[in-house]
Amino acid sequence: MRLQKISKTSFFIATTLLTLLITACYPDHNQSTFDPQGPVAASQLNLFWWIFIGGMIVFVLVEGALVYAMIKFRARSESDIPAQTHGNTRLEIIWTAVPALLLLIIMVPTINGLFYMYEAPKLHQANHVLEVIGHQWWFEFRYPDPNDPEKEIVTANEVYIPVGYPVPLNLDSVDVIHSFWVPKLAGKTDMVPGEGNYMWFEADVPGEYYGQCAEYCGTSHANMKFKVIAVSEPDFKSWLQVQSNPALESSDPLVQEGAGVFKSAGCTGCHATKTVVNKGSKGRVGPNLAHVASRRNLAAGMLRNSDENGSVNDALLQKNLRTWLQDPNEVKPGNLMSSGAQVYTDPDKKLTEEQISQLVHYLSSLK
Ligand code: CUA
Repeated sequence: MRLQKISKTSFFIATTLLTLLITACYPDHNQSTFDPQGPVAASQLNLFWWIFIGGMIVFVLVEGALVYAMIKFRARSESDIPAQTHGNTRLEIIWTAVPALLLLIIMVPTINGLFYMYEAPKLHQANHVLEVIGHQWWFEFRYPDPNDPEKEIVTANEVYIPVGYPVPLNLDSVDVIHSFWVPKLAGKTDMVPGEGNYMWFEADVPGEYYGQCAEYCGTSHANMKFKVIAVSEPDFKSWLQVQSNPALESSDPLVQEGAGVFKSAGCTGCHATKTVVNKGSKGRVGPNLAHVASRRNLAAGMLRNSDENGSVNDALLQKNLRTWLQDPNEVKPGNLMSSGAQVYTDPDKKLTEEQISQLVHYLSSLK
């Protein structure tokens, strides 16, 4: 009776875990590595299949031999002692040589893949080197300014790439180790402060690709997301052009009031609203907000501003901005704005509902 109970429970746990495991492989999932949409992810998946299938064959052979031996040489009665064997040179040579040979075989596609990842083929086509800088807990992106190669344009948490072109990426971090991961485009690469790192990826088809920090980096590690949006080359160029200009100034009085609050409340201390900076210059503490109202997500992917078709929904954006400004810690626990900005740390300076409304108007005007 008791045994039956235990086996029922373990059956339950086993099937639940198995279901979860299978869900993780579901290719339609936004962060599935089983649906590569670019050559780097495809080559990595290919390597995975080689190793996985090879591993399965080894598993079946070894476990098969084990089960066979257990049954065939079992003790048949209380007094029966099965034949005792100590050492078998031929067998030992075989089971050392075969795995060594298998490792040698796996080494070929692995090293091939490493070289492939290290440098983008057709690099001459890649005129858009993307700098990615990790922050607790958001991603900063920089491209060379299309109008002045000595300058860079800065954006955050959402970056466009041209379809069909390799995009080389320089990865860095300002605080702790993060890891850059866009599952459908390429595997993870660590972002090591002061060390830098390099990778590349390419998208075969236009689309919105989910990215996620993949190295534990503190309280909101799981909330450190981003989007890569792959578009045609002309669309990419016009996006870059838009990004290189400051947001349009609105004469709407509410917006103007909001711009005033943005300065007086100290937001400008950490957030820039101009995108062009000197090449390699140190970034601000907070994400660049020059075109925040054109981004599909807010708070590094935590709040979605866009409709199904990807266009920003103003009502949704304003609602999200309000949610974020009222209590950023609710959306992203541990974020630096909550612990560092006086409007959140000093009850006397707390933003009033009116100020929040003005800020929402201002920020949602930054297209
Ligand atoms: Cu950044 Cu985890």
